[in-house]
Amino acid sequence: MIGTDVSVAKKFLNSGQLVAIPTETVYGLAGNALQESTVLSIFKAKNRPSFDPLIVHISSTDWLTKLASEVPTKAKVLMDAIWPGPLTFILPKTDLVPDIVTSGLSYVGIRMPRHPVTLSLLKNLDYPLAAPSANPFSYVSPTTAQHVEDQLGKKIPYILDGGDSTIGLESTIISFENPQKPSILRFGGITQNEIESLIGPVSISLSNNSNPSAPGQLDKHYATTKKTYLVNQPYELLRFNVNVFCIGYGEALFEYNLSPTENLDEMAQQLFKALRLADDSDKTEVAISLVPDDGIGKAINDRIRRACH
Ligand code: TXA
Ligand code: MG
Repeated sequence: MIGTDVSVAKKFLNSGQLVAIPTETVYGLAGNALQESTVLSIFKAKNRPSFDPLIVHISSTDWLTKLASEVPTKAKVLMDAIWPGPLTFILPKTDLVPDIVTSGLSYVGIRMPRHPVTLSLLKNLDYPLAAPSANPFSYVSPTTAQHVEDQLGKKIPYILDGGDSTIGLESTIISFENPQKPSILRFGGITQNEIESLIGPVSISLSNNSNPSAPGQLDKHYATTKKTYLVNQPYELLRFNVNVFCIGYGEALFEYNLSPTENLDEMAQQLFKALRLADDSDKTEVAISLVPDDGIGKAINDRIRRACH
């Protein structure tokens, strides 16, 4: 059921059930992060392999010190500047965090989301929320309550509707396994430039199938069920025939135009919606153009490449 009542969401969560929650990035499939049986049911509902760890969501830094045994100075600087917001920190975990949350790793992902509804929910709970994106494993992430309803509606009792996700791509993930040299594991809502302007140079260690040290994030991810072609520039989409759902940007007409004015934030916000529409359309295949590779464009292109793998 879709609704807007935080107290209903709280009631289900307190009884150990799962609730979909809105965030500024994408919708999450949330449950009590401190309760093993609940966390296990998150993996089950998503069909997610147990080696792919979950992010823990908090609304106050009081929880930070309970969940992470150490918070390096550079991490603190980033948190002060960006939280609540689309940046997830990988930090050494305390014993309070069940091993199932981190897939057995000694590090945990923590994020404070920037969505008023979910922040008020979290403030009303006595525990943080473990929440992966609320999509079946390897499918496109949801950016509306209806997206969640379409795929997981029968599996969970409540979807808390907070409107369309404003950013539309998942959080950026930064690891502090080496506190002197933090490393970006996933491009997302916060750009590398924003991070480096605050703490200096970081390294990049994007995960893929051949880089198992960073779990999850398989090459084939964010994918529709249809064959999806990749082109470098929107004009190249014009060569596809009428059976192909073309996703582009700029002046030309496509089945879906991510941003006629070529605005990268708008493209990020529209991408997952476009992929879902392509999948639900009566076209047999999909084609999509990469976008300019600067700022949040890097995160958009990462998702587009994985959707086409
Ligand atoms: O924006 C987001 O981050 C959304 C919203 C709901 O907050 N959540 C999200 O979760 O994208 P999910 O589960 O779809 O992606 C989480 C990814 C994992 O696949 C993994 O790559 C990384 O975060 N991750 C989580 N914990 C980790 C850890 N301890 N070490 C390394 N990577 C970790
Ligand atoms: Mg996901």
